[in-house]
Amino acid sequence: MKIIFATQNKGKAAEVKAIFANSSIVIISLYDLGNNIDIEEHGTTFRENAFIKAKAVYDIYREPVMADDSGLSIEQLDGRPGVYSARYSGENCTYEDNNLKVIDELKEFSEPHTAKFISYAVYYDGKNEIEAIGELPGKIIKEQRGTNGFGYDPIFIPDGYEKTISELDFKLKNEISHRVRSFNQLKNKLI
Ligand code: IMP
Repeated sequence: MKIIFATQNKGKAAEVKAIFANSSIVIISLYDLGNNIDIEEHGTTFRENAFIKAKAVYDIYREPVMADDSGLSIEQLDGRPGVYSARYSGENCTYEDNNLKVIDELKEFSEPHTAKFISYAVYYDGKNEIEAIGELPGKIIKEQRGTNGFGYDPIFIPDGYEKTISELDFKLKNEISHRVRSFNQLKNKLI
């Protein structure tokens, strides 16, 4: 069975292809298809945005689609940046801008700054809707550390570790991440 993965992000596509590698499902990303469609994520929840992406791509190809929406939720910031994780400090902001904004907003709170990464993964084939959530709990620190990964990885220490995701081995991230957790569940539901 072939499934289109609604992402242009090569890193995300590689992670998800690895999860489905030893299965009967073949993953093809929008990047593989040379499609750079810009889908406006106007939803107010991860679930809503994931289905917006999946349905927009289904409408183009009329073939089974998977999509995910992900982000960081910080307890002391009432769940922010949440669905606004990508553009938390404005249009065209960098990952560093977002990290500095979070560090600044947390200044008035005492440690630990409990947080979690969330990935909401969905499948849609015109009829069936299947969904799964994956979470990675941890805490935010006051400075950026490490160079691996992307997004909020330099300020996030997963529970059970003492280093930020950016300081940890890339392979390890792919074993514990919120995305691996959500797509593994989605795979089990699909197969
Ligand atoms: P999207 O799911 O592609 O819309 O990503 C939303 C945003 O959440 C990204 O731009 C990152 O800022 C953040 N994010 C999602 N997953 C991760 C991760 O694994 N590490 C760090 N930041 C992440």
